[in-house]
Amino acid sequence: MTVQLPFEQAHPLDVAPLLRQLQQDGVIHRVRTAVGDPAWLVTGYAEVRRLLEDDRLGRSHPDPARAARMGASVLFGGPMGSYETEQADNARLRSLLQPHFSPRRMRAFRPRVEELTAGLLSDLAEHGSPADLHQALALPLPVQVICELLGVPYADRDQFRAWSEAVGDVRDRARSEHGLGELFGYGRQLVARKRQQPGDDFISRLCADDLGDDEIAMLSMALLFAGHETTVVAIGMGALCLLANPGQQQALTEDPGRISTAVEEILRAPGRIGGGIPRYARTDLRIGEVTVRAGDLVLLHNRAANHDPAVFPSPGRFDITRQGQAHLSFGHGVHYCLGAPLARIELQAVFSQLPRRFPGMRLAVPVEQLRVRADALTGGLTRLPVEW
Ligand code: HEM
Repeated sequence: MTVQLPFEQAHPLDVAPLLRQLQQDGVIHRVRTAVGDPAWLVTGYAEVRRLLEDDRLGRSHPDPARAARMGASVLFGGPMGSYETEQADNARLRSLLQPHFSPRRMRAFRPRVEELTAGLLSDLAEHGSPADLHQALALPLPVQVICELLGVPYADRDQFRAWSEAVGDVRDRARSEHGLGELFGYGRQLVARKRQQPGDDFISRLCADDLGDDEIAMLSMALLFAGHETTVVAIGMGALCLLANPGQQQALTEDPGRISTAVEEILRAPGRIGGGIPRYARTDLRIGEVTVRAGDLVLLHNRAANHDPAVFPSPGRFDITRQGQAHLSFGHGVHYCLGAPLARIELQAVFSQLPRRFPGMRLAVPVEQLRVRADALTGGLTRLPVEW
């Protein structure tokens, strides 16, 4: 039987019942993507992890126009990059970006992230109960952080937010393409400005490297998109996990030393974010009982993998003291998230300060009433009503 994506979601934090069923049945499944194309869905932890480091799978396709697509978005909706030079291109991209996201650089940035978080929480306290935690914290913090890091004016946020929203539209290809064009044009303007007036920021430092304007614009806008959309979702879903599990929230308030494992659990636990990391088979290969053909689309469901009971006992339980295998929320292998150290710093700042400053915070609506977006690449909440 071929399963149609996306999965029906009854509860915003749980893995969809059909996805759980598939996971019990085996590691690889025939599915039809949201745009009607055939694909393979891999759900087991061991296989997802192994395939993320298998160079027989890639992001590009020899015939992109005819390749199966996951969605309409220009990013991750279908094939990306050149089939001939993908591996070399990615190695170059990472070597350009990595120094700017080194643990040392990120450590130096931590106090500023903590300060920005404290500022937003003070504004929230002043606003008073009830409030929307999505608007007050989950959304502005990653936007402020990435703006400071890249050297993008925060005052432009409404504009670039609208474009990156459009880029991540999984249903409307024209809107996604238009968003990318606008974002790139904006990136070009910023590069021109930084060449005139360099600052102490990422775009200015790339300008000092020997790179062309188009490449700098492309890299910085990719980071602007990747650097905030995902983290907005992680903060919102993390807050929801804690608010829906008051005992865990209390445990974190009482023992702030648990922040590191709490953040890893916050990254692991939410069951519904995205439809898997897309890859194309570069050759015929066996996955489980199946022969996948060269060119086939393979969706590596890292979120389902995070709920594989063989690796995470009682995966539906939210437990901030959970130890053991690493989750796959940042991917694995050659594309492992370059921004993971930064995302962890943001999440640690939020979830060490939020329970301490608002120990009585609770959800203002039943959790079942909250909907996770199905139209956006990164999923996530659009509102998180709280009171205290
Ligand atoms: C909680 C927040 C985040 C999550 C869950 C997340 C998740 C991911 C995942 C799953 C990948 C791998 C994609 C693949 O294998 O094709 C990835 C790659 C990437 N992420 Fe993140 N990310 C987050 C935050 C960030 C931040 C804050 C930045 C930048 C400031 C960032 C920049 C990147 C970049 C540049 C890549 C591409 C790496 C490559 O292709 O080699 N991410 N991210």
